[in-house]
Amino acid sequence: MDRVYNFNAGPSAMPLEVLQEAQAEFLNYKNTGMSIIEMSHRSPEYAAMHAETKALLRELMEIPEDYEILFIQGGGSLQFLMTAANFFTNKHAAYANTGVWAKKAMAEAKRFGEAYEACTSADKNHSYIPQRLELKPDTSYLHITANNTIYGTEWQDFPDVNVPVICDMSSDILSRPVDVKKFSLIYAGAQKNLGPAGVVIVIVKKAFLETARADLPPMLSYQNYADNDSLYNTPPVFAIYMVNKTLHWIKAQGGVNAIAARNREKAQLIYDVIDASRGFYRGHAEKTSRSLMNITFNLPTQELEKDFIAEGKKRGFIGIGGHRLVGGCRVSAYNAVTPEACRALADFMKEYQAKHE
Ligand SMILES: Cc1ncc(COP(=O)(O)O)c(C=O)c1O
Repeated sequence: MDRVYNFNAGPSAMPLEVLQEAQAEFLNYKNTGMSIIEMSHRSPEYAAMHAETKALLRELMEIPEDYEILFIQGGGSLQFLMTAANFFTNKHAAYANTGVWAKKAMAEAKRFGEAYEACTSADKNHSYIPQRLELKPDTSYLHITANNTIYGTEWQDFPDVNVPVICDMSSDILSRPVDVKKFSLIYAGAQKNLGPAGVVIVIVKKAFLETARADLPPMLSYQNYADNDSLYNTPPVFAIYMVNKTLHWIKAQGGVNAIAARNREKAQLIYDVIDASRGFYRGHAEKTSRSLMNITFNLPTQELEKDFIAEGKKRGFIGIGGHRLVGGCRVSAYNAVTPEACRALADFMKEYQAKHE
């Protein structure tokens, strides 16, 4: 079977076992004589899968009982709007500007009040996570982006502040253990670490939910999703089903701690090559802010970068071109990317340097 080494930034690699399992039961789900995507979302089979997905997520992330788990469509981008629409109830809302996605979230919040930057890394093209935050009085919440997919930076420790924290974990959810209790709301699009595009996981503290605006249209109201167990309308059945399978896979790997150890080992393989390259490969992110998920780097010239990406493609390394805002290369090593893929890429990087230095 010709499977490539898939380093796509999102949508991205899925565990092979998950794809195979879905394939095997695609025509006949649990002896129903039909696919899971052909049955009612009110059927007992679907209901069992829906409930199990929430239970698995609660178990793996150690989500306390006073948090709701919701499934919402519209991607991370709709969450930029929904978080503000529901919770921007005071004069101010604070945003940590660590890159494009953070900025897009803040732009949505500006519809509802005075959204401001509590910190920014724009001075160095978002190559680091700022350590100091400044909060204004009357701030509804602080919004942060746990992992900055484009720049390859990741919060190592989350800030301790005296306002509710809302966190976009789209590109690093379940890649490492996090203390859910530190957050009032977490959201994450599934298409990097959890499954296909089409569903966003939202984890929200019930007490925080009670502070949300009550006059919103139902499809924008978290309370409405919570009241209806995310079944107010037809949920993204197939995406949730694939998330379910991926959660089973994470559990079988040994849970989040085992996945985190594997992710550290994978990222280290690539960062070691960068650090030992005497400047041939230049990492974009400062070392103390490095992401385990997205590894960003440049080569000495744009010509070499183009050639490296083209040569890599011939050898089966897919998705290693950088985002246009950073240029160079980006290797996304999400949960499903194997250590073997990272080792093969690290070897290719060494070989390429030896040939082109
Ligand atoms: C951290 C982060 N947040 C939000 C988004 C936007 O997600 P979506 O395309 O699902 O709207 C992305 C997309 O890559 C992302 O990386």
